[in-house]
Amino acid sequence: MRLTDEERALLDGSAGYAARKAMEILVALGQIYDATDLVPVRSVQISGVSYHNLGEAGLEWLEQMAQDGKVRALATLNPAGMDLSDWQSHGVSPEFAERQLRLVRAYTRMGVAPTCTCTPYLIGSLPAPGEHLAWAESSAVAYANSVLGARSNREGGPSALAAALTGRTPRYGLHLDEKRVPTLQVSVEAPLHNTADWGALGYVVGKRGAERVAWLRVSSRPGLAELKSFGAALVTFGGSPLFYLEGAGPAPPAAPNIGQSLKVGAADLREAMEALDDGADAIDLVCLGCPHASLAELQQIAELLDGQQIAIELWISTARPTAEAARQLGLLGRIEGAGAKVVADTCFAVAPLQRPGATIATDSAKGCYYGRGHNRLRVHLGSVERCVQAALTGRWR
Ligand code: F3S
Repeated sequence: MRLTDEERALLDGSAGYAARKAMEILVALGQIYDATDLVPVRSVQISGVSYHNLGEAGLEWLEQMAQDGKVRALATLNPAGMDLSDWQSHGVSPEFAERQLRLVRAYTRMGVAPTCTCTPYLIGSLPAPGEHLAWAESSAVAYANSVLGARSNREGGPSALAAALTGRTPRYGLHLDEKRVPTLQVSVEAPLHNTADWGALGYVVGKRGAERVAWLRVSSRPGLAELKSFGAALVTFGGSPLFYLEGAGPAPPAAPNIGQSLKVGAADLREAMEALDDGADAIDLVCLGCPHASLAELQQIAELLDGQQIAIELWISTARPTAEAARQLGLLGRIEGAGAKVVADTCFAVAPLQRPGATIATDSAKGCYYGRGHNRLRVHLGSVERCVQAALTGRWR
């Protein structure tokens, strides 16, 4: 792999330990994937922020990197394991909180913005079409590639941090035109009404289309919430973090090279909904905001709750600046007035909920997967309206 003089100097340690380690990671990755060189990145989004997932070894490694590491590109963080300022009221133990805060401090010492959100594109890290990125959060990578027309592979935590510390990433995969050509035609023959339906579609295409780049023909027009729900589910269930919607969004760099086609009908979507449903009737907790809710989604939830009181807990995850804007608009007061919680910096999948076996309702197919996996929850998937109704009654049916 070709390196510039500046990159070679970083690799030789001229800028210190962390930059050298970062270059070693990128060079190793580049060699594995046959990259010709490194490409400068406009922004980086780093996963591996929750102490729940990273543990003691991860914390030690980050603190070591933070001794002399400094970012060379705009870098933001994925959700952490707790609300960073209001963790006490969520029942987080002081031991966990101390480690989680140390972990975020290590990132901020390196110059990473402690945004703690999976939707950086909603709070100011908004890539332009064609820009190269090194983002790690899979739902954000899908959104950046497919809706915004930027270029990012799905990075791991260490490779994203390495990109932040050097301002570069190996040029392979979705940075290259030839890897961005659609190879799977998907005809969707059923209407999609809401974020849960789009998540179910992501489940079907992700599972059946494997890692192919999908070119979708869909009669329903998605909004921002539906696009982020679809992209999140698509990648979670095995799809490529790049898709195209015929007649909308960025066009592919070359004519589609469709080797395979897939028809998705109402029965396929129903099957997906059933696969993401664990069948219990009583609900313990309702979780919305996966990926993190936009201001418009918070407004929708405030309207659905207005003048009523919830019967069971309702959490809505969002980015802190979005929560702050919602506070100024009076939306937060309306949501909290109904008894629900808006949670910033984290989500129900990366926070240690400590409620094994509890049943949640969510509108996110990705949330179902991680809720089952990380926190051993039982799940129901349904529209935001149905989830809010479940919060008001405590029942799914
Ligand atoms: Fe974001 Fe957590 Fe969902 S990181 S995409 S809200 S699982």
